[in-house]
Amino acid sequence: MIRHTTKLAWFFSSLMVKRWMLPQLDVRPVVAELFLTDNCNLRCISCACWRTETPSELSRQEWFDVIQQLGDLGFVKLNFTGGEALLRPDVLDIVHYASSHTDARLHLNTNAILLTPKMSQELIDAGIRSFNVSFDGATPGMHDHIRGQRGAFELTMEHFRELVRLRDKYHLQLRMCFTVLRKNLCELVDIAKLAQELRVRLFFNVVTDHTFLFRGYNIVSLGNVDDGNLDAELNRLLEWKRKKPKFLPRYSVLCYIGDHFKDQLQKDLPCTEANLKLMVHSQGQVGGCWAHDPPFSVREEPIARIIASEKFRRIQTDLFFKRCRGCGSNHSLNLKLEPRALMYDALWEAGLFNKRRRIFAERNLPVRRAGVGV
Ligand SMILES: C[S@@+](CC[C@H](N)C(=O)[O-])C[C@H]1O[C@@H](n2cnc3c(N)ncnc32)[C@H](O)[C@@H]1O
Ligand code: SF4
Ligand code: SF4
Repeated sequence: MIRHTTKLAWFFSSLMVKRWMLPQLDVRPVVAELFLTDNCNLRCISCACWRTETPSELSRQEWFDVIQQLGDLGFVKLNFTGGEALLRPDVLDIVHYASSHTDARLHLNTNAILLTPKMSQELIDAGIRSFNVSFDGATPGMHDHIRGQRGAFELTMEHFRELVRLRDKYHLQLRMCFTVLRKNLCELVDIAKLAQELRVRLFFNVVTDHTFLFRGYNIVSLGNVDDGNLDAELNRLLEWKRKKPKFLPRYSVLCYIGDHFKDQLQKDLPCTEANLKLMVHSQGQVGGCWAHDPPFSVREEPIARIIASEKFRRIQTDLFFKRCRGCGSNHSLNLKLEPRALMYDALWEAGLFNKRRRIFAERNLPVRRAGVGV
């Protein structure tokens, strides 16, 4: 645990040096995002995973090998995700391998459809200690419509309540993830109330069609929000947050979300994703961000060689300074590292203003290299 904290503290300090003093500084990833499968059991209108069958995904043995390499490299956190990771019949073996061959903290993203009480217990026994569960609506009508399956809300909710019951016993970290899109804006306050009732932290994703899982299929139209409506709903949420702030996203996050739909890049806010995370895709491709096509593969070379390569480091730097199309991924962490956002959070907390405002102008950071194509 102390080793993890020290490593993360070193990572974030180095990133600040890169941000403000040494833009070319090599800051290596310490978290891995493992896409165990790109296939899925739901049919979310915002997502492309379920629309085609992804063949030739990494086998159990190949995942063991990837995890062993990540453990040897000292990665502090492994996030299992997808698609729907629980669809893999060998998911427990893979998680168990990770807990017995690395000392990384283990996390799972899931739609919770297959997260029965038995499965929750088995995952916890295998070593998972934090869970993100997706809710795209606060009501069955909205959630089921976006998730493309009648009854999904009821099942997800039932499974999630059981997980909440296990939280204290196993010191679990739980988050509810709500992807903001045109159709569910009207339920922002309701999802906030639901998270507060369950005493679970609420995290907002923002819809995009730029990242590899969500490209095409008219997903872009889900981001066509009416400015007035968006402002009104975010301000309503801010009013609620003023009365009852616990478990809700920070002021700067709500400002960021409001601007995302006009400006997915918000260029003067650097993006930590590619430096923080190594993404290992279900067929073995490796990259460091959600919208940049992964140019490497674990099927072709060892991970140590990939992350030490000049090409990987150059891409990381380009992405950190937002020489990308932008996608809004992990904006919450990016904002936490940005003094301007922290200042606005503090001013809002102090009651100096109430409504949402634009924090990041469309101002370019100095360009030191040609941008990567995304
Ligand atoms: C791809 S899913 C993978 C894990 C799992 N299947 C789930 O739904 O939680 C991860 C997150 O992406 C979000 N998401 C889906 N479509 C999106 C889009 N077009 N843009 C941004 N996030 C999206 C989902 O709501 C979910 O919270
Ligand atoms: S968002 Fe998650 S649950 Fe929905 S289709 Fe995509 S991978 Fe499946
Ligand atoms: S904002 Fe840019 S660098 Fe960050 S994850 Fe999205 S595309 Fe990648």
